[in-house]
Parts: sequence; C-alpha cells; structure tokens
Amino acid sequence: MNVYVIHENPDWYAPLAAAFDAAGVPHEQWLLGEGVLDLGAAPPDGVFWSRMSASAHTRGHPHAKDLTRGVLCWLESHGRRVVNGRRVLELEMSKVDQLAALRAAGFDVPRTVAVAGLAELPAAARKLPVPFISKHNQGGKGLGVRLFESHDEFDAYLAAPGYQAPADGITLLQEYLRAAEPRITRVELVGGEFIYAITADTARGGFELCPADACAVGEAAGRGLFALRAGFDHPVIGRYLDFAASQGIDIAGFEFIETVDGRLVTYDVNTTTNYNAGIESAAPRSALRAVAGFLGGLLAGQAVPAGQAVPAGRATPAGQAGQAVQARQAAPAGRTQGG
Ligand SMILES: Nc1ncnc2c1ncn2[C@@H]1O[C@H](COP(=O)(O)OP(=O)(O)O)[C@@H](O)[C@H]1O
Ligand SMILES: [Mg+2]
Repeated sequence: MNVYVIHENPDWYAPLAAAFDAAGVPHEQWLLGEGVLDLGAAPPDGVFWSRMSASAHTRGHPHAKDLTRGVLCWLESHGRRVVNGRRVLELEMSKVDQLAALRAAGFDVPRTVAVAGLAELPAAARKLPVPFISKHNQGGKGLGVRLFESHDEFDAYLAAPGYQAPADGITLLQEYLRAAEPRITRVELVGGEFIYAITADTARGGFELCPADACAVGEAAGRGLFALRAGFDHPVIGRYLDFAASQGIDIAGFEFIETVDGRLVTYDVNTTTNYNAGIESAAPRSALRAVAGFLGGLLAGQAVPAGQAVPAGRATPAGQAGQAVQARQAAPAGRTQGG
C-alpha cells in the first residue's frame, strides 16, 4: 500500500518524496496532466492525496482539473481515503467557491464581483471604486492579479494584445485591500493542526505574488521574500481549523491581509502548497514532516491486520493496481527519490 500523490508537475515531487522517505512512508506519484481512467477497474488500496493545482493549465495541462475531478469521484466511489478530496478540488479551482464558503463561515472577505466572459467586464468594474484588483477565478501563482487605478486603465488592459483570458472564463473584480504593513500572512494547516505562519513581503513581491509557487522547488528568487511569522498566535487560527474541518480540507494555507483600518481579511485558500525550504528549516515544526506523518498515519490505519480478509469490493487483482489510471507522462511507479 502506498500514499499516492495526485498532481501534474513532477518538479514539485522531490521534497515530498524526501519527506516520505525520511518517515518511511511508501509513496508514488500519479501525474494526471493527461491520462486514461478505466471506470471498470478498482483503485489500489492506499491513501490518495490530491495536490492538483489551479495553475495546471499554465504548464500545458488544460485537462488536468477535469481528469482529476473524474479520478477523485472514482476513488471516493470505491471508499478510498482521499486527502483534500473531491470537495477540496472545487475550492482549489474557484476563488468564488472559496470566498462564498469563507463568507458563510463568518470570515471577513474582500468585496468581490465575478464576471463570466469579457463583454460585461468594463461595466461591472465601474460599480467598484478605484483602485481595484482584477484576478482570475481559477488562479494560483498570482494569475492575472493586477491593480487598477482607473476604469480606463482597466479597459486598456482588456483591449491590449497580450491580454490573457482566465482559464474558466471568470474574472474577479475585487476591493483593493490596503495593508497596514506591506505584507500578507499565510497560515499553514496540516491534518487539523496549525504548523506555522509566514509573511510575504508585498513591497518586494508586487501584486503577482504567490508564496507557494514563487518559492517553487529550487528557485532562488523567493529568498528573502518570505519570513516565518514567529510566535503567531491569533484566534483566526482556530477559526481556520474549524473551517478546514467543516469543508473536509486536510492540508491548506490560508492567506490574509491586515488592513490600515484594522480588518483581518482572508482572500485566498491554497490547497497545494509548495513549502519554502528556508522557512522549513527555520520553523519550529516542518510542514513537510507533518504531511508525511499525517499521511503515513492514515496509511498505517488502513493496514489490514494479519489473517483478516480484505473486504469484498476492495480486493485488487494482482498487477491491476496502478493500471486503472494510466497517466501519460507518469514517471515509473515507485519511490521516486528526490534530487
Ligand atoms: N484584494 C486584494 N487587495 C490587495 N492585494 C491583493 C488582493 N488580492 C490579492 N492581492 C495580492 O496578490 C497576491 C495574489 O493573489 P491571490 O488571490 O492570493 O491569488 P493566487 O491564488 O494566484 O495566489 C496576494 O498574495 C496579495 O499579495
Ligand atoms: Mg495566493
């Protein structure tokens, strides 16, 4: 039995693989950029962790989110434990979904208007005061995040030759949150526990800042941009933990801005964090170690005691495991060692 990691970018696997290896947790990645799903086959036994990213389409994988929707439905229909499962995939793929759920749970969220298509955008933007932010509903790594000082500037942006429409056709127009200090805070949760909070320097990082992806594996550009927010102890942590539990979120980073007028506004929920190596070594607890421990614990909990029959419907014919889903560019199955 393995922990199966579902994503589409093998470059993100090395630190995860190293953490699993260190914890003695068997693992395998399923690269679902493209692939074949046999609905008549049973999934292998194990624990499945979805890390499908909202920005998959920017790496040449426009169908990854829909393939993952299918694969997670299939896994859950067989009763498999999916960490950050089917519901969480929808949160990852839609900021509208995130903001609606956060607001319903009583969080302060930025005032936001969602617009499908391009025709209504200029008029919809005129209902917001300037400055305002526009961003893609299906975001990640700061996709399409821009600050506009005037509505005319926004019109020109939409008409410019380099304009890129959002992957799902939905643009968010959002209140600009004026930060008291030029930073955002991100609160990392793993398996129902608070791990640490980090800050990202928005004066240096600009608006296209994303603490997760800008610090993607091996990238030096993120150095100094992110800092541990040591000793962060705030009631919002407990509220994020409650929200995560209510939504079935096992692993996530919540981002907030503290505004000049004293609000703490939550604007982004990331369910596919790539932890920053510098932070990981400085923090009192490693999020990667917490992830490996959490998933390893779930896997151990599924081990069938000796002599006990495998429940009907869960038996997987020898050799079938791993063939029900054939990922086109998957690395060879096994414990891909980071390097
Ligand atoms: N409403 C806002 N007001 C001010 N800054 C914002 C706002 N929304 C986003 N930002 C800035 O842009 C960054 C990226 O936006 P975010 O919504 O987190 O998109 P992504 O999911 O791509 O990370 C944020 O980390 C923050 O620095
Ligand atoms: Mg973000």
